[in-house]
Amino acid sequence: MSRFLLACTLLTASAAAAPPPRILIAYHSRTGNTEKMAAAVREGAASVPGVEIVLRKVADVTSDDIVKADGIVLGTPVEWGNLSAEAKAFLDRVGAALAKAGATYGEGRTAAVFCTAGSPSNGQEMARLSAIAAFLAMRFVIVGGVNQEGFGSLGPQAVTAGKPPGVNDSDRADARRFGERFARITRQLRTPATP
Ligand SMILES: Cc1cc2nc3c(=O)[nH]c(=O)nc-3n(C[C@H](O)[C@H](O)[C@H](O)COP(=O)(O)O)c2cc1C
Repeated sequence: MSRFLLACTLLTASAAAAPPPRILIAYHSRTGNTEKMAAAVREGAASVPGVEIVLRKVADVTSDDIVKADGIVLGTPVEWGNLSAEAKAFLDRVGAALAKAGATYGEGRTAAVFCTAGSPSNGQEMARLSAIAAFLAMRFVIVGGVNQEGFGSLGPQAVTAGKPPGVNDSDRADARRFGERFARITRQLRTPATP
C-alpha cells in the first residue's frame, strides 16, 4: 500500500473511531414551561445526524456529563428579572467541573441559552445575557437562535402567562429550529476534519 493510501486509511479510521459530538441540554423548570422548550430543543437537535444528545434537569447533571459535552444548552425560567438561582448554580458547576478535569474550560466547545418568562420584556434579555456572559468567561463559543424575521437572537424564549398560558406551537417551532442550528454548528466545530 502506498504511503498516501495508508495515511488516508489511518485518518479515515481515526475520524470513524471518534465518538459523535455530544450535546448536553440542561434545564431548570419549576412549573414545566422551560421543560417543554427543552423537549423542543432536543427534537430539533435530534434532527441532525451524527450527534448524541443528553437531556437533563440541572439537578441531575453530573460532572461527567459536563466534561464530556461538546456543546451545552442551558434552559432557565426568568426569576426576578434574571436566570433562576438553580440555573446559576449549574453554571458554577460547569466551570468547576471543567477546571477540575484540567480542560481549558469551554475552549472550542459551544454553549447557548433559552428561557421562558411570565410576561413580555420582563427579564428575558437579562437572563440570557447573564448566562451567556458566564459561558463567555468560560471560553465557550456562543450560538444564538434565529427569530421568525430571520434576525439572530440571544436564544429562543417563550412568554408563558398569555392566553392560553404556557408554551405555544410557535415557541416550540423556534426552539426546534434553534436545536437544529445548535447541533449542526456544534457538529461542524467538533468533528475532526477528514482529508
Ligand atoms: C420566583 C419567581 C420569579 C419570577 N420572576 C419573573 C420575572 O421577573 N419576569 C417574568 O417575566 N416572569 C417571572 N416569573 C414567571 C416565570 O418566569 C414563568 O412562569 C416561567 O415560564 C416559569 O417557567 P417554568 O415553568 O419552567 O418554571 C417568575 C416566577 C417565579 C416562580
